[in-house]
Amino acid sequence: MTRAAATASDLRPLAGRVALVTGAGSGIGRAGAIALARAGAHVVVTDRDGAAAADTCAAASAAGGSAQSHALDVTDDRAVEAAIGAASAAHGRLDILHSHAGVQIQGTLEEVTVRDMDLSWALNVRSHFVAARAAVALMRAQGGGSIIITASNSGVQFDREMIAYATTKHAAVAMTRQMAADYARFNIRINALCPGFVDTPFNAGFEVQMGGRQALERYVATAIPMGRWGDAREVAEAIVFLASDASSFMTGHALVIDGGESI
Ligand SMILES: NC(=O)c1ccc[n+]([C@@H]2O[C@H](COP(=O)([O-])OP(=O)(O)OC[C@H]3O[C@@H](n4cnc5c(N)ncnc54)[C@H](O)[C@@H]3O)[C@@H](O)[C@H]2O)c1
Repeated sequence: MTRAAATASDLRPLAGRVALVTGAGSGIGRAGAIALARAGAHVVVTDRDGAAAADTCAAASAAGGSAQSHALDVTDDRAVEAAIGAASAAHGRLDILHSHAGVQIQGTLEEVTVRDMDLSWALNVRSHFVAARAAVALMRAQGGGSIIITASNSGVQFDREMIAYATTKHAAVAMTRQMAADYARFNIRINALCPGFVDTPFNAGFEVQMGGRQALERYVATAIPMGRWGDAREVAEAIVFLASDASSFMTGHALVIDGGESI
């Protein structure tokens, strides 16, 4: 390989690959989708909010990447299966699935309703099951792929008054590890992404639970060894790493990116 070719593949390690991202209209999903496109993948950007997905798509294109977008609610099994099938049919393959959308419902056992526990399960576990199930069928046929399931550092530690979130995020990590063990022999790598506090709209509910932005800022400054929020772009780097051959011998891993919070 020439020096110039090596440099090009270093810059665009995902050239020629096709990715689909859920919940990519905001925050980490958005930053990850843009980073995947910048790394050379063609990215199918999806979000329940179609306009937000389109906005991410435009940002990915502006960054020099290739992307398309459409609305997708991950609680709609048929729609998830159809979106994954359509991405593969249109581009001849699906190399990367980043199943990212999730929900955080605060509260203790007595505060969380059964309905909200079901909703947490539907987004944080079931939707990943449905998406991964559709993707592995295609990836097996094409000889491999990389699936990234967004969990949380709440999937490897326990929070206070977060029964629905911590339970379902632990389940997402467990499911990722089980799937990884089953599908490694098909050259399909499956890893969990476990961010800590990343400053996105996702923390709005926790902010209320903490008693406002100032209290949340104090919490972040003291509870996190690095003393600050993560930036979505810092997590996006890890998404590209898990999607690419840079992590080629890594599967069933829960990659924690949390400024040391879970230490
Ligand atoms: N931000 C954090 O601090 C943090 C930390 C750990 C884990 N996470 C995980 O990351 C994911 C989202 O975080 P974020 O910071 O990117 O959030 P965000 O609020 O910035 O964006 C979430 C996106 O998901 C979309 N969405 C919500 N419900 C959906 C559904 N049913 N179908 C499809 N899309 C849907 C929203 O429209 C929104 O665009 C969750 O799985 C969450 O558990 C976030």
